[in-house]
Amino acid sequence: MAEMSVLVAYASKHGSTELIADAIGDALRRAGHDVDVRPVSDVRDLTRYGAAVVGSALYIGRWQGDALTFLRRHEASLAGMPVWFFSSGPLDDSAETAQLPAPKAVAEIAARIGARGHATFGGHLAPDARGFVEHFMIRGGRTGDWRNFERIEMWADAVAAELAREGVLGAAGREPTAGAVR
Ligand SMILES: Cc1cc2nc3c(=O)[nH]c(=O)nc-3n(C[C@H](O)[C@H](O)[C@H](O)COP(=O)(O)O)c2cc1C
Repeated sequence: MAEMSVLVAYASKHGSTELIADAIGDALRRAGHDVDVRPVSDVRDLTRYGAAVVGSALYIGRWQGDALTFLRRHEASLAGMPVWFFSSGPLDDSAETAQLPAPKAVAEIAARIGARGHATFGGHLAPDARGFVEHFMIRGGRTGDWRNFERIEMWADAVAAELAREGVLGAAGREPTAGAVR
């Protein structure tokens, strides 16, 4: 089987998660994969992909609605390929100091499709972010950038290494790596 592309699909309200997805895509490309980095809402079907990384910003403890819609719509396709999830959000160093669990709805889908892993990365809130709740968070001094691109790249490198170990995308065993789903 010819090597297929890797999809990196993301949901991002203010753009911070998009940059995380870009960094993951760059790391996978450096490892030799053909990669598409796209917003979840732009992806219609997964037939050309042999593996996927799917991530969303966290809002009130959940993935964004379009990311959950994407997972539900494509659950059958995702079950047939290696899949990793990531969440981005914490506006503190908690993502660095603990393995934060995936939101419940994501963990349930991850279990059903046999996802390989889930990681939570620190988030970012810019002082000029628009939005009602954002306004109050900014006034409350919650702005800052907790994204650790070194850690993000290391995680993506582990994903790339697991894909390379398999040789053929979509084949082989299903031991969780790059952070078990929890
Ligand atoms: C209204 C609001 C609610 C949020 N809720 C959470 C949350 O429940 N958990 C979390 O870790 N981060 C939360 N965050 C932080 C965001 O996930 C963080 O700013 C993230 O980097 C935003 O990504 P984006 O720029 O891609 O939209 C929240 C931020 C806002 C503005």
